[in-house]
Amino acid sequence: MIDLRSDTVTKPTAEMRRAMAKAEVGDDVYAEDPTVNLLQQKAADIFGKEAALFVPTGSMGNQIAVKLHTKPGDEIIIEERGHIFNYEMGTPSVVAGVLIRPVKSASGSGILTWAEIESALHINQPYYACPTGLICLENSHNLAGGTVMTAEQCAEICDRAHALDLPVHLDGARIFNASTALNESVAELSKNCDSVQFCLSKGLGAPVGSMLLGKRDFIEEARVWRKRLGGGMRQVGVLAAAGLIALEETPKILNVDHENARMLAEGVANLKGVLIDAERVATNIVIFNISDANLSSSEICAKLKEHGILASPFGNSIRMVTHYDVSRKDVETTLRALKKIIQQF
Ligand SMILES: Cc1ncc(COP(=O)(O)O)c(C=O)c1O
Repeated sequence: MIDLRSDTVTKPTAEMRRAMAKAEVGDDVYAEDPTVNLLQQKAADIFGKEAALFVPTGSMGNQIAVKLHTKPGDEIIIEERGHIFNYEMGTPSVVAGVLIRPVKSASGSGILTWAEIESALHINQPYYACPTGLICLENSHNLAGGTVMTAEQCAEICDRAHALDLPVHLDGARIFNASTALNESVAELSKNCDSVQFCLSKGLGAPVGSMLLGKRDFIEEARVWRKRLGGGMRQVGVLAAAGLIALEETPKILNVDHENARMLAEGVANLKGVLIDAERVATNIVIFNISDANLSSSEICAKLKEHGILASPFGNSIRMVTHYDVSRKDVETTLRALKKIIQQF
């Protein structure tokens, strides 16, 4: 199968499997797993943050950050298609007791401007509005089609937020894709953010795991919350070993995924009834609208499956994500199949 549903479907490389087999391990709840400790130190160094914590999932990393930055009754601001709002099971209200204030990005890019954030803030309105407690950003932005936020855009939001004593959390599940697309370090892209979460298990290819980064005392508290939420794992160096390879090796080859995604986007842009601005495809996510095709997105995905291709239907759109288990040839096969399916009807 050519699996374009997500970059979460990557299988560990032979190098990752070898590293997992010989990983040195210890009990990570006691902070005694040398491989986890090494991974945490490396991640903190790469991002220029004081400390890092290995967490089982990106969702847990994000939700611990939301919990630690806020108090019950606060509001958090997030772009309306943000992952924390749409795909994390309402955890901000369950665990942190906060409300989400989704904000539309007028540009459609998913990247909020300060003016858009500012209009949604509740500051000094103590008797009738929930106070804003946190701003959440996402880079790259998944549901907006892998769009990227520059270091300057992020720094401006952080500066303005900090001037109001508001913390900023960055959901950088795919920040290495943003870094590749912008030719900018992940440290610069997350420079003034109070916390960052990034996933080892998406385009970087590790089987499991994400990292939460921030100041040392924040990460100490995060360690408590990770345990509270059931994320205190034991000899987890076997997973961290794959994470280390993912962190060190995969960023160098993400450009290939981006080239494949662009080729896919340019190909689908030529199909009848398909709408996509291929120029906007900056990373590894391709989302195209099929409202004018004669089949629904689910019907098209079902027919693609008959051709050995998996993709995700999203309302009137289809999402395809490239990763290191998808080759250029796979993209060509996908385009041929799509052409056949769409033109047949
Ligand atoms: C932008 C973004 N943030 C967070 C997550 C959550 O990661 P996980 O699936 O590891 O919980 C995802 C997963 O797809 C994502 O796309």
